[in-house]
Amino acid sequence: MNYQPATDRYSNMQYRRSGKSGIQLPALSLGLWHNFGHVDVLENSRAILRLAFDNGVTHFDLANNYGPPPGSAEENFGKILKDDFAGYRDELIISSKAGYTMWEGPYGDWGSKKYLVASLDQSLKRMGLEYVDIFYHHRPDPNTPLEETMSALDLIVRQGKALYAGISNYPAEEARKAIKILRQLGTPCLIHQPKYSMFVRWVEEGLLDVLEEEGVGCIPFSPLAQGLLTNKYLKGIPADSRAAKPHGFLKEEEVTPQRIQQIQSLNQIAIGRGQSLAQMALAWLLKDPRVTSVLIGASSPAQLTDSLQCLKSKPFTSDELEAIEKILK
Ligand SMILES: NC(=O)c1ccc[n+]([C@@H]2O[C@H](COP(=O)([O-])OP(=O)(O)OC[C@H]3O[C@@H](n4cnc5c(N)ncnc54)[C@H](OP(=O)(O)O)[C@@H]3O)[C@@H](O)[C@H]2O)c1
Repeated sequence: MNYQPATDRYSNMQYRRSGKSGIQLPALSLGLWHNFGHVDVLENSRAILRLAFDNGVTHFDLANNYGPPPGSAEENFGKILKDDFAGYRDELIISSKAGYTMWEGPYGDWGSKKYLVASLDQSLKRMGLEYVDIFYHHRPDPNTPLEETMSALDLIVRQGKALYAGISNYPAEEARKAIKILRQLGTPCLIHQPKYSMFVRWVEEGLLDVLEEEGVGCIPFSPLAQGLLTNKYLKGIPADSRAAKPHGFLKEEEVTPQRIQQIQSLNQIAIGRGQSLAQMALAWLLKDPRVTSVLIGASSPAQLTDSLQCLKSKPFTSDELEAIEKILK
């Protein structure tokens, strides 16, 4: 306890504006999807959060269902916030989301106004907060009119329960429609949260252009492909990895021999650049100015320390970029 944040916490982080909004986010933000639930060690979660804030990571990303069990990441975060960050609320951007299955029955999933409003109320209670800074619709709902879901985000913002609205996992054209509806309602969309990494590149086929045209920020999640784009899987699946944990979302089947070969080749380029593979994978995303912040995970303070060093990356040469493309083909 008795945490005193580092006094130089703003000296090394870069802050980037989210689209055409007034909000700047740290180049690296921290997500609490894994490693912050009741199945995890609270003191480790606390150490990661403290280290993040000490290094200027002002944005923590949650969702109603993070854990396991669902809701427990918000509970643990609420506890740590109260213990350690109570005096620093105004230096933090805290986000939550609803859109995936959270409770039984027809009102605990997808995109109805009923679900979003009730879920945020539950999230606020778990975290002990009066408001979140960003509230996202977590995934598109094919069966609820987009107008209803967006009007729920607008309502939540007008109620003061969130300051900004965001969308996540929306394909390009649906994102464009959602952004337009939100603008018409008077609650501009702050940011889109898509999956994006060297291994998952669908956003390059239209979404990034839409976001730029509309003046909306972009915060890629799983930028390290859940750990694949690090030195973790160079020699297979280690016991202390997400792929080896029963509740991890990275499945053993995804760590194929071909993947490992690609990771090894990428690692050689990273070594040539004098950095770790994680640092290179993060710098590769941040080279695009349309990317506001990159949303990483970490299971230890050491991993976070490693990832933070991506901010010291030198620019990529065209030869390096070509060599990376060749490996990813
Ligand atoms: N909107 C959505 O639908 C959605 C979906 C998924 C995630 N997200 C958000 O995005 C956040 C990040 O996702 P993610 O956790 O999948 O991100 P990630 O950064 O791709 O993966 C994080 C994992 O990679 C490993 N790792 C991280 N840094 C490392 C390093 N420097 N060296 C070696 N290994 C390292 C750790 O795995 P080990 O645990 O194996 O050590 C860590 O848990 C989530 O917390 C959440 O906030 C959003």
